[in-house]
Amino acid sequence: MAYIELINLRKEYIERRTHRRSKADNEHQGDKLIALDGIDLEFQEGELVCILGPSGCGKSTMLRLIAGFEKPTAGKVLIQGSEIRNPCPESVFVFQQDGLLPWMTVWENMELGLNHMDNEDEKNDRINEYIELVELVGFENNYPYQLSGGMKRRAELARALVVNPEMLMMDEPFTGLDFLTHMKMREEVVNMHEFIGKTMIMITHFIDDALTMADRVIVLSERPTKVKMIRELNVQRPRNIEKDPVLRELRDEIYLMLGVSYVV
Ligand SMILES: Nc1ncnc2c1ncn2[C@@H]1O[C@H](COP(=O)(O)OP(=O)(O)OP(=O)(O)O)[C@@H](O)[C@H]1O
Ligand SMILES: [Mg+2]
Repeated sequence: MAYIELINLRKEYIERRTHRRSKADNEHQGDKLIALDGIDLEFQEGELVCILGPSGCGKSTMLRLIAGFEKPTAGKVLIQGSEIRNPCPESVFVFQQDGLLPWMTVWENMELGLNHMDNEDEKNDRINEYIELVELVGFENNYPYQLSGGMKRRAELARALVVNPEMLMMDEPFTGLDFLTHMKMREEVVNMHEFIGKTMIMITHFIDDALTMADRVIVLSERPTKVKMIRELNVQRPRNIEKDPVLRELRDEIYLMLGVSYVV
């Protein structure tokens, strides 16, 4: 049995648009917008899976369904065989940009997820451990507005990991970062994945991120969304796409699949 199973998953949204498109537009049925339909996917325990796909194809929707933030219109999400009906923040943590509470310091934001811990010393040690891991020592008492974009993102990552969730869902975690911070964060996430070995699902628009980081890459099509490719990457890390013919070829294949005919 897979750790996470998506079975014949469908999600419809009611469209508020009053102006209808032509009848030939078969992705819109009545006022419904079908974000996902007939999606079957499995995720194994401890896997780092990257999901690629065109904008609007339903990637974030899929993560929200797995995290239990939304309910599927049909089909189901099973985690260890049990159907997910509600959010469960202790086991699934969704990493999102600007996830820090602006009126709390870095330290207080991290403490939030550890309310259940009574032993103050243990709690403080744990917070310190993750602050060190993301190199934010000295900034514990800063508020989010007092951090740079990259530092904020690292604090968000530490905030996610300190909870020690069973699963970590990341929706475009590196978007908006400068190049060097992006590279660094990518390395950090891979190292942390090796270190803590938790199941991670990451949505990204960066093909190179997927190829450098993932145990498995999933490519989705545009709506009506289908799974276009599932590819296991048995390539040792650290990976260098330029020096690895398999990864280079796969990169070209994915670019083509996403509608880019040449790489500039
Ligand atoms: N709450 C909502 N209400 C109505 N429609 C929604 C809602 N959330 C998403 N949608 C629609 O569902 C489709 C999929 O959206 P989703 O955010 O999952 O796409 P995505 O693949 O994450 O896109 P992007 O790469 O741009 O983030 C879009 O057409 C979007 O307009
Ligand atoms: Mg999205």
